[in-house]
Amino acid sequence: MIRVKEVKKNYGELQVLKGITLEVKENEIITIVGASGAGKSTLLHIIGTLDTPDSGEIWFDDINISSLSSNKLATFRNNNIGFVFQFHHLLPEFTALENVCMPAWIKGISKKAAEKKAIELLELMGLKERIFHKPNELSGGEQQRVSVARALINQPKVILADEPSGNLDTQTKNDLHQLFFTLREELKQTFIIVTHDNELAEMADRKIKLKDGKIDISYIFA
Ligand SMILES: Nc1ncnc2c1ncn2[C@@H]1O[C@H](COP(=O)(O)OP(=O)(O)O)[C@@H](O)[C@H]1O
Ligand SMILES: [Mg+2]
Repeated sequence: MIRVKEVKKNYGELQVLKGITLEVKENEIITIVGASGAGKSTLLHIIGTLDTPDSGEIWFDDINISSLSSNKLATFRNNNIGFVFQFHHLLPEFTALENVCMPAWIKGISKKAAEKKAIELLELMGLKERIFHKPNELSGGEQQRVSVARALINQPKVILADEPSGNLDTQTKNDLHQLFFTLREELKQTFIIVTHDNELAEMADRKIKLKDGKIDISYIFA
């Protein structure tokens, strides 16, 4: 479903990605691991169309996203890619419900239809009693589950998560990881997750290690 072909990225003299080739299948959960500074976030941002490679291609099914204009790319991103970051990036002045609705409103879905879907998702996240709370009235784990619901609302092809549990205590972290696998079963959702968490990396269908700007082949098959 997603094909990353020979992607290279430099920042000045620094060669961060030296040719990354990777395929992600529908309904797969893959994790990306590697030392700090290995280029994990850079790769995730490039797959998520938030950043562009110096060379190489990213394909979503039969669409080469490198060929899209920036307008088309923004629409493509909002409709097809869900993001979950280490820090939730929820809008503080809006309720959980409004935060989850936001990507659907941007897509042009009616207020009523967006709210119906958002409430369903928030219920699925176990947040039924929290929908009118603002981010600062929610615990860290609840905030992350709201961001997962927000990432899901437009039924994206893939959810990209960058150290989503990096800021959570052990129990909350395990609950969030379990949620990813539940969503994979119930919504047939595909995930690419950057993580430092060994347990999550072991649970995933595949773990991919970035090292020296390349995929460490010995590790994939370990
Ligand atoms: N916008 C940028 N400008 C310059 N250097 C950057 C930029 N983004 C990341 N880097 C550098 O690229 C390397 C990889 O960063 P990153 O992808 O964030 O690594 P990771 O997520 O694996 O910790 C690091 O050395 C980082 O300092
Ligand atoms: Mg990072």
